Amino acid sequence: MKVESIMVTGANRGIGLEFVRQLSQLNEPPRFIFATYRNDDTLKDLREIEESSTKTKIILIKMDVTNPEEREEGPKTMLPLLERAAKLHSSADTLSVSRAAVLNMSSIAGSIANVGVVFRRDLVVPAYKISKAALNMAMRVIATSVKDKGILVILMCPGWVRTPMGTQKAVLEPEESIGTMIKTLPKLNESHHGVFIDRTGNPYPY
Ligand SMILES: NC(=O)c1ccc[n+]([C@@H]2O[C@H](COP(=O)([O-])OP(=O)(O)OC[C@H]3O[C@@H](n4cnc5c(N)ncnc54)[C@H](OP(=O)(O)O)[C@@H]3O)[C@@H](O)[C@H]2O)c1
Repeated sequence: MKVESIMVTGANRGIGLEFVRQLSQLNEPPRFIFATYRNDDTLKDLREIEESSTKTKIILIKMDVTNPEEREEGPKTMLPLLERAAKLHSSADTLSVSRAAVLNMSSIAGSIANVGVVFRRDLVVPAYKISKAALNMAMRVIATSVKDKGILVILMCPGWVRTPMGTQKAVLEPEESIGTMIKTLPKLNESHHGVFIDRTGNPYPY
């Protein structure tokens, strides 16, 4: 996967942290990783990766997505940069992560079609399920509006991963889940644009 720069939100722990770790250790790693966090006192693990990273420059950005001022510094300013990246790599006539892409961490828990099928105790986390169904719809809409700009929009479920949120009961170690996602990303193209997929690239029902 040839990528010049990547922004990872929520990079101080869990899935985001493991993405920064593995991306910076690729044979051909990105030149820059912009890694966002909220609190200075949660930076220990991310700082260790930043300090030991030899090929990738990791730039830490403080950003709470609910804070409009901090958000101005982050994903708002991202769209023009993604558009520029897509134009720069316009020789690639299809959508790809090497051209310009947004990867959203969705969840099978947000699948309306799977209510009562995958989770028998669906009502335990209704707000989470609703938020992921909303994310899927929002990104599906955005996928339609940015397709002509050459930006690939991906909705991927990482599986159930052992993180502070996923808990120790989860079935996947972060290394395995994120390793699989990183192997899948270069294979994604126009056919995956705005499609809800698992970590190997297979479609999930909305
Ligand atoms: N783990 C799973 O099994 C699983 C499965 C499916 C989907 N996902 C999705 O994958 C994503 C990451 O999950 P995770 O397991 O890594 O969760 P996690 O361990 O709880 O980490 C969440 C990260 O998001 C950051 N964050 C939370 N609220 C934020 C805000 N308002 N602004 C900016 N950053 C914020 C946290 O920062 P702080 O440290 O400052 O709180 C933390 O870095 C989530 O969207 C989750 O729904 C996870």
